[in-house]
Amino acid sequence: MPGCCAEVRAEGVKLLADGVSKRYGPVVALEPVRLEVRAGELLTLLGPSGSGKTTLLQIICGLVEPDQGRIFVDGRDQTDTPVHQRDVGLVFQNYALFPHLTVGENVGFPLRMRSVSASETKRRVQDALDMVQLGHLARRFPRELSGGQQQRVALARCFVYQPSVILMDEPLGALDKKLREHMQIEIKRLHRATGATIMYVTHDQEEALALSDRICLMNHARIEQIGTPGEIYERPLTAFAADFIGISTALRGRILGGMIETPEGRFHLPPEAVGVEGSDALLVIRPERLALGQGTNVIAGTVTESVYAGAETRLLFRLATGTDAVLRLPIGMPPPPIGAAVTATWEPGAAVMVPL
Ligand SMILES: Nc1ncnc2c1ncn2[C@@H]1O[C@H](COP(=O)(O)OP(=O)(O)OP(=O)(O)O)[C@@H](O)[C@H]1O
Ligand SMILES: [Mg+2]
Repeated sequence: MPGCCAEVRAEGVKLLADGVSKRYGPVVALEPVRLEVRAGELLTLLGPSGSGKTTLLQIICGLVEPDQGRIFVDGRDQTDTPVHQRDVGLVFQNYALFPHLTVGENVGFPLRMRSVSASETKRRVQDALDMVQLGHLARRFPRELSGGQQQRVALARCFVYQPSVILMDEPLGALDKKLREHMQIEIKRLHRATGATIMYVTHDQEEALALSDRICLMNHARIEQIGTPGEIYERPLTAFAADFIGISTALRGRILGGMIETPEGRFHLPPEAVGVEGSDALLVIRPERLALGQGTNVIAGTVTESVYAGAETRLLFRLATGTDAVLRLPIGMPPPPIGAAVTATWEPGAAVMVPL
């Protein structure tokens, strides 16, 4: 319904995408989705390439018109409001800086567009540049900066006019891993300092886990699951969610007599799992929940690889059925050699069951 949406404002919802959808000819870019973003939260749209993340973000900022549905900000219908009149800041991967303007002039640009006075602009530009630790580079031109510094200028340019909603589409996509991690911390800090509501698009699950208050997981133009990083990692609701976030050992089977029967054996279900007798399900065990040894549930296999990753070592082994399994070795334990026979166990409550 166009106009004011009092119910939404009352609940502390900053932004509501209410039943928005988009098609391009025969391609469904976005099925009708409903998404609420709470005031002050950092919500990530996470999903594989082509799942509709950019489409949803562009509908929210007004660059793309939805086929159906409405966009509300602070309970006000913004669907027909042009991009530049929305209280929304944008940072895109290729949101190029103006090459002929200095860093300071680039950051001041949105303020000039809003007719902010020269003295006020100067102060706010300096504050914004200090916030991203580039106060000393205000006179340089973009070509005289590294990629990471340019990205920080783009962030400062977005934060400088204090939009209450900031949309970022893969803003760190072009940076190397170390710089990405540094910038993730920077974005978290800016988020905390400004209290802005941020929607952040990425297809990198580690980035989503590290940054988000909540993750909206997308797949095939739909929302697959919405939850905190912990909820999505610990309690994936679908096989896709379990597979897309983190790594795990996945055993397919059928629920029979309160157990799950799989080609790898018959296993106890997690106590809270509500499975329908006779239905197909996937048992998902995270590497840190699986340990070498014997116990209630046991799988056996042959070591195929051990992967040292500094903070942890993962042991990969293959079960007789050909299914691959992975566990995290305790700190300091030397990995068994490749080809060694191993058994591994998990507590029933440490696994997650998802319907198939
Ligand atoms: N302007 C367009 N014309 C035609 N098809 C489009 C257009 N924009 C997007 N699509 C299609 O809509 C679907 C969703 O695209 P979208 O850009 O939203 O995906 P995405 O999740 O952002 O992917 P990526 O991670 O690769 O950026 C894709 O199949 C894409 O090819
Ligand atoms: Mg995209």
